[in-house]
Amino acid sequence: MQRSFVFFLVALGSWAFEKGFAEEDFVRIWPENPVVQFGGSLQINCSANTEADAIGLETVFRKEIIGTGSNWKAFLVTNINDWNTNSLCYAEESRAKPAKTTITVYKSPASIELDPIPEMEVGKLYNFTCRVFGVAPIHDLTVTLLKGEEQVLVKTFQDHTEPAAGAVVVNHHIRAEQNDYNKTITCQTSLDVRPRGPLLKNTSHGISLWTFDFAKAPLLHAGLFLEAGTLMKVTCDAPEVSPAKEAVFDLWFAGKPLTFNTTVMGGLASAQAVIASSSVGDHELICTVSLGPVTKNVTKTVNVFALPKPILQIGSSEAVVGQTVNITCSADGSASPGFKMQIKDAAKILASGNVDEHFLQHAVITQQEDNEREFICQVTLTIDGHTKERSMSQKLTVFYGPQMDDFSCPQTWTWKAGSTMTLTCSALGNPPPTVQCWKDGRPYNIGKPQLIQIEHDGIYQCNATNQYGFDVRDVTVHVEPPQSIGHIIGYILAVALFIALVAGVVYWISYKQKIGIYRLRQQGKQQQSPKAAENSVEQKFLNGKANV
Ligand SMILES: *[C@@H]1O[C@H](CO)[C@@H](O)[C@H](O)[C@H]1NC(C)=O
Ligand SMILES: *[C@@H]1O[C@H](CO)[C@@H](O)[C@H](O)[C@H]1NC(C)=O
Ligand SMILES: *[C@@H]1O[C@H](CO)[C@@H](O)[C@H](O)[C@H]1NC(C)=O
Ligand SMILES: *[C@@H]1O[C@H](CO)[C@@H](O)[C@H](O)[C@H]1NC(C)=O
Ligand SMILES: *[C@@H]1O[C@H](CO)[C@@H](O)[C@H](O)[C@H]1NC(C)=O
Ligand SMILES: *[C@@H]1O[C@H](CO)[C@@H](O)[C@H](O)[C@H]1NC(C)=O
Ligand SMILES: *[C@@H]1O[C@H](CO)[C@@H](O)[C@H](O)[C@H]1NC(C)=O
Ligand SMILES: *[C@@H]1O[C@H](CO)[C@@H](O)[C@H](O)[C@H]1NC(C)=O
Repeated sequence: MQRSFVFFLVALGSWAFEKGFAEEDFVRIWPENPVVQFGGSLQINCSANTEADAIGLETVFRKEIIGTGSNWKAFLVTNINDWNTNSLCYAEESRAKPAKTTITVYKSPASIELDPIPEMEVGKLYNFTCRVFGVAPIHDLTVTLLKGEEQVLVKTFQDHTEPAAGAVVVNHHIRAEQNDYNKTITCQTSLDVRPRGPLLKNTSHGISLWTFDFAKAPLLHAGLFLEAGTLMKVTCDAPEVSPAKEAVFDLWFAGKPLTFNTTVMGGLASAQAVIASSSVGDHELICTVSLGPVTKNVTKTVNVFALPKPILQIGSSEAVVGQTVNITCSADGSASPGFKMQIKDAAKILASGNVDEHFLQHAVITQQEDNEREFICQVTLTIDGHTKERSMSQKLTVFYGPQMDDFSCPQTWTWKAGSTMTLTCSALGNPPPTVQCWKDGRPYNIGKPQLIQIEHDGIYQCNATNQYGFDVRDVTVHVEPPQSIGHIIGYILAVALFIALVAGVVYWISYKQKIGIYRLRQQGKQQQSPKAAENSVEQKFLNGKANV
């Protein structure tokens, strides 16, 4: 029972609700959520359950009736150029509430502006700002920042409720990259009022990005010293720069700008110049390199020095032994302070000085060893521990008379007859002496090979001469007899003869002794036998022979 009572009440309420409203007055507006372009126009249809005459539209915009039905009225609302767009349809003397609508007014941006972007250094952050003016409704706006084709930022404004046109600013930090060079930044807007309105897209003008990579300091290649009046090539290098061809150089030396050539090789930009100065002292060489927003400089101090020209004078470059020769060293031309002068030869320093008078002297009493001796006049300058020098050299000629010794002219020679030998004899002396040898008053051709004979044996007189005197020397030549076959045969014959002689003498002595014994035997007996006469002849012969 309780359950059927509740059902009854619900059914009653439901009936009363339907009946009541169905029979009640109403006002309707169409379209319900219109979208219109700013300044545009819109048709609004108001309908109600009353006569059309009683239907009206309340709006701030200009309106005109463009159609009337039995219970409706159509209006054309024009020049919708305000943001207070609330409009309502009403029916006079009706108990129904007026029907209200809010017109969405859209407006594509009046302008889109990108803030200028400075030249950028690779690796640094930069603030990119896009400003969109006069756009509505901001709630439906999307702003996109593009770097080339790449979207770097997409921004929406869904929390924005203000219908009026306004400006938005979006900003984004972008870290500059090397390959951003010459890429274009654009700001895109898209106003999406679909489905009841359009999708409107706009793009700002593009800005080119100029990114520069210049992290490393430039390098200056130049010598530390420059001799006054000479030229020196210098190079300023900017390594690992990008874009290298954009590097701008500026070179100065001694307060004056230099003219230079620039070259680019890969990531290396360099400038070449030639420097020169006539003013002695330290001068600054400055290279300034600019690449986009970055400027770097490098400085080097170049010392310009002046070394005077050394002048060597030898009193007389040709001297005779024992003569005093003055050697002078002098300096000509401008000089850096503190230079030194020296006179030296290959072995040692002969004279030196910190010379203010630009003059140094050394006297030499010439000896024959001084012939061809080289004298050097040198000027030196020491700057920061580095020594610069310049020198001039000259040789001395010393004349002297001939001198012969055992080496140049040996005094004894022992030769074998039959061999081919050369008698040599020379002499020291300047100019080189002429050597002549004589034997037995006749000149002998020295220095020429000769077939040696017994006649070569003897003493030779050699005389070396030049215009500064002479030297005489005796040379003894011993010639040994030849050791030929005939020689040996002769020797054997001599030995044989000697043996025969000795044998003969021995025989004769023994014979004499026999005769003596015989005579002693015969003395007692008769002498003058024929045999005795024979023996007497033999004795005479032997005596004769013994007498030989
Ligand atoms: C206005 O609305 C009524 C009722 O909805 C309709 O019958 C009529 O055709 C509409 N008029 C126009 C011009 O759309
Ligand atoms: C945006 O585009 C619309 C047409 O789509 C144009 O009427 C308007 O002038 C443009 N706005 C800008 C700022 O370029
Ligand atoms: C970036 O630029 C915008 C607009 O000029 C400015 O409001 C913002 O403070 C800047 N941001 C930085 C970090 O500088
Ligand atoms: C920048 O790029 C454009 C083409 O994208 C090219 O024509 C122009 O020469 C480039 N400029 C420089 C400075 O590299
Ligand atoms: C620059 O280059 C030209 C031609 O190659 C050359 O004649 C000139 O000496 C160079 N100048 C310098 C300062 O190197
Ligand atoms: C070189 O650079 C330094 C800083 O690195 C600067 O103080 C100096 O003024 C610069 N010199 C010149 C000649 O540009
Ligand atoms: C060498 O120099 C000294 C002093 O300067 C001078 O007296 C002398 O005459 C000079 N000798 C010669 C050979 O020139
Ligand atoms: C050596 O020669 C020189 C010059 O010809 C001469 O004057 C000198 O008397 C000669 N000496 C001898 C020992 O022959």
